[in-house]
Amino acid sequence: MNDQLPAQHVDALLEAAVAAPSMHNTQPWRFEIDGHVIDVYLDGSRTLPAEDPTGRAMRIAAGAATFNLRCAAESLGYGTWFGLAPYPREEPDLLARIVLEPTASRDEELRDLAVQIPYRHTDRQPSDDTPLAEEVRVRLLQAAYAEGAELTWLGQDQVRAVLDLILDTDLREIRDWRRRAERARWVGGVRTADGVPSTALGPRSARYPAAVRDLATHPADRIRPEQSFEQHPDLAVLSTACDDPADHVAAGAALERILLVATRDGVSASFLNQPLEYDDLRQRVQRLTGRPGHAHMIIRFGRSRRPSQTRTGRRPVTEFLPKGSS
Ligand SMILES: Cc1cc2nc3c(=O)[nH]c(=O)nc-3n(C[C@H](O)[C@H](O)[C@H](O)COP(=O)(O)O)c2cc1C
Repeated sequence: MNDQLPAQHVDALLEAAVAAPSMHNTQPWRFEIDGHVIDVYLDGSRTLPAEDPTGRAMRIAAGAATFNLRCAAESLGYGTWFGLAPYPREEPDLLARIVLEPTASRDEELRDLAVQIPYRHTDRQPSDDTPLAEEVRVRLLQAAYAEGAELTWLGQDQVRAVLDLILDTDLREIRDWRRRAERARWVGGVRTADGVPSTALGPRSARYPAAVRDLATHPADRIRPEQSFEQHPDLAVLSTACDDPADHVAAGAALERILLVATRDGVSASFLNQPLEYDDLRQRVQRLTGRPGHAHMIIRFGRSRRPSQTRTGRRPVTEFLPKGSS
């Protein structure tokens, strides 16, 4: 076996990895490659201290990037072994170690999902009110299980309870200028390499609280056109049994697997994570699922009436590698 991965494989692997979702599109990961081993690290210069003080959202994003890496590796003909947050005490920033080796036995599902990576994106457009087909829900549940996580669909009463928690979150945020200032640094305006541009925000909801998160902070974004969103949103909560760093990374892998399966099924997704950014409300969201565990994402699934064409930008892959290594 040749010691180093070919340069074009490295590019393809990293391009797939960085297409993953991350809170406010901070892309909080960096990679070190040694032979056929890829290490995924947190990038400490891309933290969100006010909104993500413990780094949980960063670890979820890194988990999503790791899943994309595994899919891309499969489509290039490699099998993968991996460990998540393998040394939490000694090396807390090392979130995944992936070993690639040429293989004849293929994971066809990962190869198939790799095709969806460029098409997946967060869609904050209104959806129609038709509930998702049962077989689609089951496929999304199975995607979560495959990565060691759990997806719970919320009934109408639970959806109402989540919307109440969103109201609660917004009232807290009004008093918290640090959170608002932090978001303003990442959201709104024209952004091509990172952050969330105004064009990705989607319309404002005509009703409040809404089934879509309005990330806008800049005055110009606050006056964008209104539309009515679905009355009965399809919401689900992604959870893990434990709440250690490796569980956050696994939740991220499960998230990306779910989103790629959804993309393949023509299902759009966006997130209502604001209650999960407060520990007490996060526990209340988990209690709403009726199961033990720890909630990581509230996902709104749907079929957009006018699917969003907007893509958020990504930095060039060389920026994610140590200087001088590319
Ligand atoms: C941990 C995490 C939390 C997120 N929370 C929200 C949220 O509450 N509302 C929202 O609209 N998008 C949320 N997002 C989506 C990001 O804004 C989105 O992934 C990022 O802007 C990149 O855009 P893309 O998903 O279209 O590639 C979240 C993503 C992650 C990984």
